[in-house]
Order: sequence, then C-alpha cells, then structure tokens
Amino acid sequence: MTAIAGHMPATRKPGALGIHSIGGFVLAVPEVSRAQDFYGAFGLDARAQGNQLNLHTMADGYRWGRVVEGGRKHMHHVTLHAFEEDMPRFKSQIEGMGLRLLDPPAGFDSNGLWLRDPDGLLLEIRVGEKTSPDEKTPIILKPTEGGLRNAPYRRHVEREVPRRLSHILMFTPDVPRAIAFYSRVLGMRLSDRSGDFVAFMHAIHGSDHHVMAFVKSAAPGLHHLSWDMPSLASIGLGAMWMADRGFAHGWGFGRHVLGSNYFHYIQDPWGSWSEYSADIDHVPASMEWEGIDHPMEDSFYLWGPNPPEDFVANTEA
Ligand SMILES: [Fe+2]
Repeated sequence: MTAIAGHMPATRKPGALGIHSIGGFVLAVPEVSRAQDFYGAFGLDARAQGNQLNLHTMADGYRWGRVVEGGRKHMHHVTLHAFEEDMPRFKSQIEGMGLRLLDPPAGFDSNGLWLRDPDGLLLEIRVGEKTSPDEKTPIILKPTEGGLRNAPYRRHVEREVPRRLSHILMFTPDVPRAIAFYSRVLGMRLSDRSGDFVAFMHAIHGSDHHVMAFVKSAAPGLHHLSWDMPSLASIGLGAMWMADRGFAHGWGFGRHVLGSNYFHYIQDPWGSWSEYSADIDHVPASMEWEGIDHPMEDSFYLWGPNPPEDFVANTEA
C-alpha cells in the first residue's frame, strides 16, 4: 500500500537520506486546450482551472500534473516528495555541496527547497505524500473460462484508466552527470543503465524500478511521462481508444527489459510521449538493489514492434 491510501505508514529505509516519490510535475506547452484533449483521452481527469489544466487520476483524485501555457513545450518543474524529518538534512546537504537554493518561481509559492539539476531542470523538494508504492502493485488478470465467449463486444467494454504516475524520463546530454546528481543530491539510486546512453533510478524508500530516468540526447528535454495501468488488457484498450481519437502515433504493445514493464507509448501533441505501463519491477525499501550496466541490445525492449523513427527525437533540442 502507499501512504496515499492513508491506511498505514509509508515504508522508509532507516537513516538514509533520499526523496521518496514524485509529487507532481508542471509542464509548459504552447496550447493548453490541446493538452486537455490529449490527457483527457489518455484517461486522466483533465480539469481546466483558469488558464491552466490540472491532471488528476480518476480513482483517487490525486493531482499529478499541471499544464501551463508557456511557449515551446518544456518541463517547467518537477516536485519530489520527502519525509518531513529529512527536510533540514536536505537543506544542509544541498548548501554543503555549494548548490544554490532558489526562490520559488512566480505563481508556485511553496516552502519547499528549489534548485536546478545540471541540465537546468527546476526541481522542488518538499514534504508530501509517498506516492511511490511500498510494494509491488499487482496487475489485474481476469481468468478466462471454458464454455464462455470471454471477450466482450467493443461497445460493452469498460475502460480502465491510469492508477498513478510511475516515472518521468528526461533527455540529457550527460547521463553519468545526471546519475551523480540524482544520487548525491536527491538520494536516489541507480537501478540499471546501459553505458552512458540510458539510466534508470529508483527512490530508496520503496518505489518502482525507476522514478526518474535519463536518455542521452544533444540537449535536455522531456522524453516521456509514464502512467501505471491496472492490467495488460487496459494497455491495449487505451491505445485503441487514443487511436480512435486521433492519437494513433505510438509504439507498442511491447515489453521492456530494464524495468520489465509492458508498454504502449502514445505521442503527445508536442512530440514527447505518454506511456501506458504495467507490471514494472519494484525496489522495496528493505533491499539494496544492485545497479547493473547492461549491453545496449538488452537495454531497450524484449519484444514488440520496431520503434518509430522519431521515438528518441528530442523536439526541445
Ligand atoms: Fe517508461
């Protein structure tokens, strides 16, 4: 269970300093109305509030994201959640490293700690709910039965929607530098990497195999936002639903090697991607996961169609 459900205290690795989850993100795009079409179709509760859009998961109402109008598409900032008792240590650690703490950006007042990663991405560390799962989230497998037509008619199918944000994958010109920063400053750990091309990092207090991930590019940028889905069927149905609404360009159905998750990516209106993901590996708080460097051929996907040519094109470069 996660603390978000409010039933039991979140897991933590005793004594160790590290953020425990992604609290949310703010994405800037040229046209917020396009974002409402896209994320609404994707299965999020996309609510307009003034000239911004709030992205909530349907079942629990949690607000994962905000979309604001802001010229070219870019990640405005990412908020990382930490335990309250760790905040003074984060502050002294950041200052001890000679990193500059910043004022909150206009319109986003908070008592969090604001700083930029080496690529200039604005980050906020603040006290918040542990949104990362304490244990592996099981996927729902509906058993089929003999003597029955097990698949429903299309018109009778009930759509399943994302349960939570799983991870954010960013482009970076320097993957080792990103690993070093997110480890030393935010207390995350490497889960898996493939040389200097791609790296996946987990949060130490129990999280998905990756919460933040980085892939090499000429410039910084957003590659994808990944959303946890309840079942394999819901990934296929989600992709079909998006295609029927004009969002057909994607990659999937497939399965990754690093993270083991099943996926289907849909391209958003700005050339980055939203991923339907299911059954991603989990790193419990009680475990020391050993980050391994994998051969390139094993870094990408186990099976699936060939990725589209623009899958790792960075529209912010
Ligand atoms: Fe992903």
